[in-house]
Amino acid sequence: MIVFANGEYISSDEVKISPFDHGFLYGLGLFETFRIYEGHPFLLDDHLARLNEGLRTLGIKAEYRRHEILPILKGLLAANSLENAYVRMNVSAGNGEIGLQTAEYEEPNLILFMKPLGTPSQLGEKKLALLNIRRNTPEGATRLKSHHYLNNILAKRELGASSEAEGIFLTREGFLAEGIVSNLFWTEGETLFTPSVETGILNGITRQFVMKLAGKLQLGVQEGFYPQEALLEAEELFVTNSIQEVVPVSMFGQKTFPGKEGRVVQALSRQYGECRRKLWTRNSLQ
Ligand SMILES: Cc1ncc(COP(=O)(O)O)c(C=O)c1O
Repeated sequence: MIVFANGEYISSDEVKISPFDHGFLYGLGLFETFRIYEGHPFLLDDHLARLNEGLRTLGIKAEYRRHEILPILKGLLAANSLENAYVRMNVSAGNGEIGLQTAEYEEPNLILFMKPLGTPSQLGEKKLALLNIRRNTPEGATRLKSHHYLNNILAKRELGASSEAEGIFLTREGFLAEGIVSNLFWTEGETLFTPSVETGILNGITRQFVMKLAGKLQLGVQEGFYPQEALLEAEELFVTNSIQEVVPVSMFGQKTFPGKEGRVVQALSRQYGECRRKLWTRNSLQ
């Protein structure tokens, strides 16, 4: 696999990070994962906007724009002979002295890599399980897509390796939060419900896109603090992320749900499919 690292296209065997990178020493790093569909990086502008906002919070002096990142993505697609891909874009603070730094980081490490991923052919389904481990609180004012994934990893260990299951976190106070690697939605009639970002969840790019799509489909959206019992009243349940898109849920605990037969899930997925090869940002959704 060919990787892009700080301006160079090199073999994944050769890419190196210094042990003095504060991304390694103190976890000061952010990442984005997204998909490329037939050469089009879906919602790239939205991913870069979230990344840039997070970089400001971390004090990393860098801002990435479509016109800089697109040629890199094209270079990686060509170097790896891909048209459809899973992309990971990673920015870490860069080297510093040993000890906590207050000055801004001026020379971050930018690393991008890809792996092959076909276009989704049909809706898969997942079963949800409520996790015993609670969602930790964000380390700053909002949850960043940062290198701190231990809470998620412990949750994944609790859930087990099955790719057909997703674990749902509650907050420490017992409110529904998010999946281990996804955001949570459910429906009642013509309304979508989803936990508020104030619960401390990651504000997923797919979450925000689905909320926009809902408007297009004349569905209402309510964000809030909900107890787990809210899911027992729900008609449809689904989770979202940038790699798996909209994933219908067929079971939560002992209760069954329509899964991929769900009317709302089908409508959202259809719309999603129409946008995959075109959209740069949810804001240009017509
Ligand atoms: C904890 C968590 N929540 C939500 C999401 C979904 O985010 P996005 O839609 O930006 O992929 C992810 C994605 O990896 C995640 O790790």
